[in-house]
Amino acid sequence: MSNWVEQIEAAPSLAALEELRVAALGKSGAITAKLKSLGAMDADTRTVEAPRIHAEREAVTSAIAARKEALEFAELEERLATERLDLSLPAPFAPTGSIHPVAQVMDELTEIFADLGFAVAEGPEIEDDWHNFTALNIPEAHPARAMQDTFYIEGDGHRVLRTHTSPVQIRTMQSQKPPIRIIAPGRVYRSDSDATHTPMFHQIEGLVIDKGITMGHLKWTLETFLKAFFERDDIVLRLRPSYFPFTEPSAEVDIGWSTEKGRRVVGGSEGWMEVLGSGMVHPKVIANCGLDPDEWQGFAFGTGVDRLAMLKYGMDDLRAFFDGDLRWLKHYGFKFLDVPTLSGGVGA
Ligand code: DAH
Repeated sequence: MSNWVEQIEAAPSLAALEELRVAALGKSGAITAKLKSLGAMDADTRTVEAPRIHAEREAVTSAIAARKEALEFAELEERLATERLDLSLPAPFAPTGSIHPVAQVMDELTEIFADLGFAVAEGPEIEDDWHNFTALNIPEAHPARAMQDTFYIEGDGHRVLRTHTSPVQIRTMQSQKPPIRIIAPGRVYRSDSDATHTPMFHQIEGLVIDKGITMGHLKWTLETFLKAFFERDDIVLRLRPSYFPFTEPSAEVDIGWSTEKGRRVVGGSEGWMEVLGSGMVHPKVIANCGLDPDEWQGFAFGTGVDRLAMLKYGMDDLRAFFDGDLRWLKHYGFKFLDVPTLSGGVGA
């Protein structure tokens, strides 16, 4: 008996312990055989042997349980010791990506407009002809519909890759009740390619629909936005009369620039460059969305996100934005923890 218990107590592993258990208590184990032999004994012998054999089985069973617990505990201790991670050490290799300037600028714009009470709206990049053109009062013969600008989707005839974010105005007016204050950043597509044009680029649209909205609200909003975006108080805007089918009146917005240490920077009014298209939403567009233009008015604006990024962060070739060159991304990219906030400055 003690032989079994001694062996069990010395079992070096769970596997060895299991082998011992099978040898002693398994179907054809030694103790099992002894138990089976009880039936063939005469009564006197059995009276002596039965308690002995049962006691042995008890002793072996509890020795196995105790050894098992001890081995399992030792195994856990060892695992905990080998799997320990010292978090105070720097990771040996930690590749870090960066936030693309377009994503960064979109976050900056969202932060600025959220503070002014604007929500973010979205629409599909594959758009139908009605939302992209017709509802925006762009008639059939308008040059913006010409083949060289628009990517048409083959097949059903009426789908295009959206050429601007303005169709999100339509979708928002159709799906929400005024008052409406939204911005819609996103990808747009035009068949065009040179240093300042790529077939895919990014725009942001703004739309306000409410009662008693005027050009004054438009100008204040744009001025407030551009001052916050460029982080300068000396931003000067110039609204030039212009034409867009979906606004009446329409204005193109120029921002003043000046020269600092031989470099042209935004701010002041030495010269002008165009940054935005805008205007009062055309009554026909409001009516196309099922709203009464006598009751509701509003303004809209649209601009290129990539262009805003170039102006603020000094890139000069738009094509590089979409090359995926790691050196460029490293140079112009942003750290992912540099989340733009108004309090901390939207420019990372
Ligand atoms: N959708 C115009 C474009 O792509 C930009 C634009 C101009 C948007 C005037 C507007 C607006 O909302 O009012 O060139």
